[in-house]
Amino acid sequence: MRTIALFSAKGGVGKTTLAVNLAHAAAGPSGRRTLLWDLDPQGAAGWLLGVAPLAGAKARKGVASGTLADLVQAAAWPNLDVLAADRSLRRLEADLAAEDSGKRLKKALKPLTDPYDRIIIDCPPGLTQLADQMFRAVDLIVVPLIPSPLSERALAQLQAHLAAEMKSPPPLLPVFSMADRRKALHRTSLAAHPDWPVIPYAAAIEATAASHQPITTGSAARAINALWTAVERRLAA
Ligand SMILES: Nc1ncnc2c1ncn2[C@@H]1O[C@H](COP(=O)(O)OP(=O)(O)OP(=O)(O)O)[C@@H](O)[C@H]1O
Ligand SMILES: [Mg+2]
Repeated sequence: MRTIALFSAKGGVGKTTLAVNLAHAAAGPSGRRTLLWDLDPQGAAGWLLGVAPLAGAKARKGVASGTLADLVQAAAWPNLDVLAADRSLRRLEADLAAEDSGKRLKKALKPLTDPYDRIIIDCPPGLTQLADQMFRAVDLIVVPLIPSPLSERALAQLQAHLAAEMKSPPPLLPVFSMADRRKALHRTSLAAHPDWPVIPYAAAIEATAASHQPITTGSAARAINALWTAVERRLAA
């Protein structure tokens, strides 16, 4: 089992959109037993796939007591389960900040390692203590970056933070998100990193918020599948 987080200190960069579509690519085209864990109290990842939290569900308690498996639900696609977020997660940050080992999230994931091949985590924005615990629990961090010097600065800050906090941090996979080649600034950033995967700005991707369906056709789907291939290659490296 391998765990992949969609993370950025910045908000609104495409983390949730990519988490949902990568989870679908892992489960469908790749045939992996996949769990999408929505760690953001905004709850958008589950919502995008039409999965609401279970009545009275307390994901925060699930983390504390190691019983997250009880909260897992099947999504409408083969091989794809969802651990939906609920409002209790608002207080997870404070729980984790008060916790000494720094490994509560890692422990909470343990019971999920047998039933799944891939766990994809949609993180809330922010370089918080919750993020620090997540870094200790995952095998790869996918970082969506809107092409601009500010995004490159944010990536450098994240790399410096990981180097300062961890002896062997998980690898980062930077991904250009919402790339628009009509913009000179985007073209300059894209040219500076020709090896980073690119997800274009696409109405078809934005429309997933209305359709509650992952992308399955067209150039946007090809870009998602190429990104998933890059994720798998990185995990195998
Ligand atoms: N490649 C894309 N093309 C067009 N629109 C996109 C693309 N990716 C994301 N969006 C849209 O941009 C908005 C923000 O995306 P999303 O919610 O995935 O970002 P996020 O990083 O998860 O945000 P937050 O930090 O609030 O969790 C949404 O309206 C989404 O539909
Ligand atoms: Mg999000």
